[in-house]
Amino acid sequence: RSGPRFSMALRSDAVSVAPLLTKLKRDCATPLPVLQRVVDAMSQAMRTGLAADGGSGLPMIPTYVHHLPTGNEKGLFYALDLGGTNFRVLRVQLGGKEDRVISTEFDQVSIPQKLMSGTSEELFDFIALGLAKFAQKEGDEFHITPGRKREIGFTFSFPVKQTSIDSGILIKWTKGFAVTGTAGRDVVACLNEAMERQGLDMRVSALVNDAVGTLAGAEYWDNDVSVAVILGTGTNACYIEQINAIPKLKGYHSPSDRMIISTEWGAFSNGLPLTEYDSDMDAASINPGEQIFEKTIAGMYLGEIARRVLLKMAQVDGLFGNSVPQKLSKPFTIGTPDLCSMQQDQSDDLQAVGSILYGIAGIEANLNARRTVVEVCDTIIERGGRLAGAGIVGILQKMEQDSKGIVLGKRTVVAVDGGLYENYPQYRAYLRDSVTELLGIEHANNLVIEHSKDGSGIGAALLAASNSMYKHDA
Ligand code: GLC
Repeated sequence: RSGPRFSMALRSDAVSVAPLLTKLKRDCATPLPVLQRVVDAMSQAMRTGLAADGGSGLPMIPTYVHHLPTGNEKGLFYALDLGGTNFRVLRVQLGGKEDRVISTEFDQVSIPQKLMSGTSEELFDFIALGLAKFAQKEGDEFHITPGRKREIGFTFSFPVKQTSIDSGILIKWTKGFAVTGTAGRDVVACLNEAMERQGLDMRVSALVNDAVGTLAGAEYWDNDVSVAVILGTGTNACYIEQINAIPKLKGYHSPSDRMIISTEWGAFSNGLPLTEYDSDMDAASINPGEQIFEKTIAGMYLGEIARRVLLKMAQVDGLFGNSVPQKLSKPFTIGTPDLCSMQQDQSDDLQAVGSILYGIAGIEANLNARRTVVEVCDTIIERGGRLAGAGIVGILQKMEQDSKGIVLGKRTVVAVDGGLYENYPQYRAYLRDSVTELLGIEHANNLVIEHSKDGSGIGAALLAASNSMYKHDA
């Protein structure tokens, strides 16, 4: 009979890969004590960052957004969104309390790879040109009071040191951008100069991070939203903070007792369960030692971590037979969407996994190898989703401690946007599980984690409206 021989072959295959897989699972494990350690470290890093810039804390960037949209915002506004693989433009006619959003229109282009490592002028010219083309196509359903400038909410999703709601200096690029000449400059000035070169007479009324735009956009519909999270190419979170809990703003005359803080939690790194693959990927990245939380939980990196694991399994244990598939050695050959597609294959023979592997890197994988691949994907996604959940609880814990328990005792909404969260059901489920484990069922029941799709564009337009230069006009 062929049974025993087959199962022996199976076993020897399994045995050879097992130690690497076992080690990966062990290094990536996120049992409750590990999650809780991350929660505590996150709240602590938030406090340190609120006390002073630099040091071991999070950036905790003051956004100068004091008031979330009220619903009364009216008029024609534009939004620009630069932050990941795509550049988006949006126009929206806001109708005030009754009508809210009367009409919207948007356009999206992917950012050519070469612009991501070109000069600042090239990148901003590209943006201004995209905006100019879009603005030209403004239809009759949009109205602006004659004589007024068109105003823009500019979502710029990188760490920016804001000095006011409509200006801010780029601290550094993240997410694979390596554009020269922007860091240290006011990005609104960069955009203004490029608009001038295009002959475009528009005004940036609000400069916002995508997390901040998402919070504003989600709060417009639901007043219980107090935290927003981005889980896409990169990751970030922002929340509503009390002014007196921001020591580093001492001396600032605040028009209100609250301000949105953009945590830039992608920069967090304390207490994370990391592997040799993470440190190798970090070392090879354009920003080694930076954005470690982002590199562990966000879309740009999860596929690449998996590729590194599979490459090692192919080299050391012959996961895909005697030779190592050549393409597997090329960084970023496997994207996070590939992990996602493979994990949706619920069939016994993992046919889809096989064809995806073949499609992306010409890999021929037998059933055993396909099973291992799925386990590798799952291990990395599980760690990412659970750590993202711990990050959210870290923010809630800090808010809860400061408010002496009123945050979790009532309905609280966390608005989440970003392709990773939107498109990856397993990631979402791991995130939710981790939040429930950490908060306990009672508090978890008060917490709504809701997907706020493309809220950041509308949110930026709303913030442009609330900061409009004409807002005091009749
Ligand atoms: C990166 C950026 C941050 C942004 C996030 C999500 O972490 O530094 O500003 O919000 O990606 O796009």
